[in-house]
Amino acid sequence: MFDFSGYVQSYLNTLPLLLIVVSLYWTVMVGAPWLPSSMKTVHQMMKLAEVKPDDVVYDLGCGDGRIVLIASMCYHARAVGIEIDPLRYLWCQLLVTIFFQRKRVRIIFGNIFKQDLGKADVIMCYLMPGALQKLETKFKQELRPGTRVVSNKFAFPTLIKIREDENSRLYLVHSDDGK
Ligand SMILES: C[S@@+](CC[C@H](N)C(=O)[O-])C[C@H]1O[C@@H](n2cnc3c(N)ncnc32)[C@H](O)[C@@H]1O
Repeated sequence: MFDFSGYVQSYLNTLPLLLIVVSLYWTVMVGAPWLPSSMKTVHQMMKLAEVKPDDVVYDLGCGDGRIVLIASMCYHARAVGIEIDPLRYLWCQLLVTIFFQRKRVRIIFGNIFKQDLGKADVIMCYLMPGALQKLETKFKQELRPGTRVVSNKFAFPTLIKIREDENSRLYLVHSDDGK
């Protein structure tokens, strides 16, 4: 009789690796895979946007929550993170609780394209160019004049850049370009 045990064993060996890869990268289909911004870049993004204590900072696709936690703990802003991956969402919730940031940081489980962004003073993102293109229309409809948008690495196609550093770019929505 044909012996399947070899196949079963190699399947069981590769399954955990496959699950890890899928859980890290499936979100490439909806905006970006998980690749955290370095801590240095997070602080540079905060400085580029001049985040202040009365700001509400949104991170679109908040990953492990580092941007919203740094915004709250180091820059004393309020912060909202939106994340579509359930494991990363739960991890963020855990960190927000462990670091006693529940009063100032809110994590939303959902799709950034379906959330209202109108209360943001600052928007941070590290997303693929296709997602940035889609977001531009949403920004123009929802964001208040003067909302600062910082994108790590990738550029928005038509928003006019105000400043940049080695990694990120700052945009002002509804500035003269903006409409
Ligand atoms: C490149 S990572 C950036 C994580 C974090 N913002 C940072 O800079 O460290 C992109 C994150 O966005 C999330 N994401 C991608 N598309 C999304 C969508 N449509 N809605 C919500 N989250 C999304 C991914 O799950 C991933 O955690």
